Amino acid sequence: MFTLEAFLPSMSTQRTEALDVERIREDFPILGRDVGGDIETPGAGPEDDTPLVYLDNGATSQTPERVIDAISTYYREYNSNVHRGVHHLSMEASFAYEAAHDRLADFIGASGAEEIVFIRNTTEAMNLIAYSWGLKELGPGDEVVLTEMEHHASLVTWQQIAKKTGADVRYIAIDEDGRLDMDHARELIGPDTEMVSVVHVSNVLGTINPIAELADLAHEHDSYVFADGAQAVPNRPVDVGELDVDFYAFSGHKMCGPTGIGVLYGREDLLEAIDPFLFGGDMIRKVDFEDATWNELPWKFEAGTPPIAEGIALAEATDYIDEIGMEAIQRHETDLVEYAMARLEEFDDIKIYGPPRGEDRSGVVSFNLEGVHAHDLASIMNDDAVAIRAGDHCTQPLHEKLGTAASARASFYLYNTKEEVDTLVEAIDSARQLFA
Ligand code: ALA
Repeated sequence: MFTLEAFLPSMSTQRTEALDVERIREDFPILGRDVGGDIETPGAGPEDDTPLVYLDNGATSQTPERVIDAISTYYREYNSNVHRGVHHLSMEASFAYEAAHDRLADFIGASGAEEIVFIRNTTEAMNLIAYSWGLKELGPGDEVVLTEMEHHASLVTWQQIAKKTGADVRYIAIDEDGRLDMDHARELIGPDTEMVSVVHVSNVLGTINPIAELADLAHEHDSYVFADGAQAVPNRPVDVGELDVDFYAFSGHKMCGPTGIGVLYGREDLLEAIDPFLFGGDMIRKVDFEDATWNELPWKFEAGTPPIAEGIALAEATDYIDEIGMEAIQRHETDLVEYAMARLEEFDDIKIYGPPRGEDRSGVVSFNLEGVHAHDLASIMNDDAVAIRAGDHCTQPLHEKLGTAASARASFYLYNTKEEVDTLVEAIDSARQLFA
């Protein structure tokens, strides 16, 4: 029998299997819970039986059972400090913790554990490079180039370092659809540029920025590139070699991992050359009363007891994601965001921010309902157990540029469904009726 797939075999091989979302949802215990009622006395309220619709994945994703188990197994079976003991538990913990660095290196195409520093989150990674590299290397006349869609993690950090060093911060403009103006990027990135620090995927607009192209521009002028991958690594294949970035950062809790763990990737030669940001235990090689020398990479940047359970659990999260398939996750998110935008576009009183439907976009949709503040909207939607985020999403200057103080944001992940998008639209309608 004739089938399109038989006729176009390359098409069928390009498209990976669709996600079995109903099965995936069983991996996440929290998705089975109801919410509502009085949070001080859970279970007491009459309205605490509404099934959760969790659409706040841009803020934090939910955690599959096997990642929760990885944390629990660590504490139940081999909880011990790393790199400090010759006893069995310490060696087991050290082995697993170091293997987690290898696993994360593999996940993003780094050359090895020496390029992978475990830190608390993307913000801390940004601060690490800004303080250890920026404070020492930047001076009057130097420029750090950001974008108008930067998260405060990058924007505020480089602003403060620029104030301390006399460097200037410049911003690549965005167009009316929330894409980077690459002509402006070419104008701004020049001989005085020392660092180009850009968000890979906007947490508000869903825009996917051309990091490799920006890296080319930066490298033509001997500048470094730091990409904030907090909203990219969870839902699209990322290879730091292909992107040709010098530094890259992301957070575990947005990619099925625990809170309190993030990753700073740095090119090995650069990390070798940069001084540590935090000083203390485990990051030294030799100390006397006058001075100290530093441990090898990546431990030179991991002072004190590191996030051991969290690092091991993050490696488990990457296994989980890889077993499901990153391409399939990315395609599922794209389908959901297309569907959500199409549903929201049915209403004239809803304004959506970011690139139009049909363009390559990540799984976030930020919007406003005319006449209703985003916080009120999110709070009314909470009555229907729909969890979205409202506010400036740590991007106040971007919101100023968009002409609004706040927006509502729905953000999707591998376990979300089109039915949940429909519930979102119905909950928006409840708010509309209430404010009519
Ligand atoms: N940066 C995170 C967000 O966009 C917290 O929600």
